[in-house]
Amino acid sequence: MDVKKFKEKYGAWAIVTGASSGIGEEYAQQLAAMGIHLILVARRIERLIKLGQQLEEKHHISVKSIECDLSKPGFEVDLLKNVEGLDIGLLINNAGMNIEGAFYRGGFERNQQMMYLNMHAPFILAYHFAKVFAEKGKGGILFTGSISSFQSYPYLTHYAATKAYILQLSEGMHYEFKDKNVDITCLCPGITLTEMAKGMKPNILTMEVAPVVKAGLEGLGKTSSVVPGFVNKAMIGISRHLFSRHANLKFNGDMMKKTLPAVRKDINKKSL
Ligand SMILES: NC(=O)c1ccc[n+]([C@@H]2O[C@H](COP(=O)([O-])OP(=O)(O)OC[C@H]3O[C@@H](n4cnc5c(N)ncnc54)[C@H](OP(=O)(O)O)[C@@H]3O)[C@@H](O)[C@H]2O)c1
Repeated sequence: MDVKKFKEKYGAWAIVTGASSGIGEEYAQQLAAMGIHLILVARRIERLIKLGQQLEEKHHISVKSIECDLSKPGFEVDLLKNVEGLDIGLLINNAGMNIEGAFYRGGFERNQQMMYLNMHAPFILAYHFAKVFAEKGKGGILFTGSISSFQSYPYLTHYAATKAYILQLSEGMHYEFKDKNVDITCLCPGITLTEMAKGMKPNILTMEVAPVVKAGLEGLGKTSSVVPGFVNKAMIGISRHLFSRHANLKFNGDMMKKTLPAVRKDINKKSL
């Protein structure tokens, strides 16, 4: 990647949501290494502060850490006030949560929290910053979707639906903002070894976080969506081009039933 060009287009500051762990933390690491100043956003402020201090020392950048629950309606009022005056050129719209298991697992409130966090918050931030960047004549937005953005996953039903929304939003915006010199891309990872995938042992389907994030940063400005890793790309390519939606739905449902312990427990329960 041409770091000079990247900084010219997406500097001086990047805002990274969900920077306290996993993919967001890795985005912070890789952007800091390019000399981009960072605004780190998540609920666990002590983690953000520690990470920020490490990155400031190591890469001689400035870091602002903001404690924010992105699932709370109205979160943007304080957040946007906090970043006023900073020359932000890149939004990493990454924070997210999942709920695995049968449809009613997690309950209504947690499902609603997931809707706000996975769809509402990225939309609000993209709505705000796409305009800022278009007026500036440059900038970028990276969404974090998932391979489940591409097709339905029973027993991950609602999560996959939130990620389908993100991919559609991102792709449409990619097209509309291209001639405004604003790059918009959706990174669609498969299983990535973060807190979200805790307990998973590395196997052919899992990826370390660093190459996933690298693929996202390299895809920005080049394409509307990025599926990182050969195995994930092959899986999505084969399922989309060789099988019907219905066949994929059945395959995914049967596979989830067999592989997710939470699903097996739910299926054996008598009540919903
Ligand atoms: N890991 C995978 O296998 C995988 C695969 C495909 C897509 N993804 C997507 O990748 C993104 C990052 O997830 P990850 O894998 O890096 O998992 P992770 O390690 O659990 O990170 C999730 C991040 O989101 C933040 N977050 C959660 N709830 C929040 C809230 N209410 N307000 C603000 N921030 C919140 C967390 O910070 P706090 O808890 O400190 O708030 C954390 O920084 C998500 O959008 C996820 O859907 C992950």
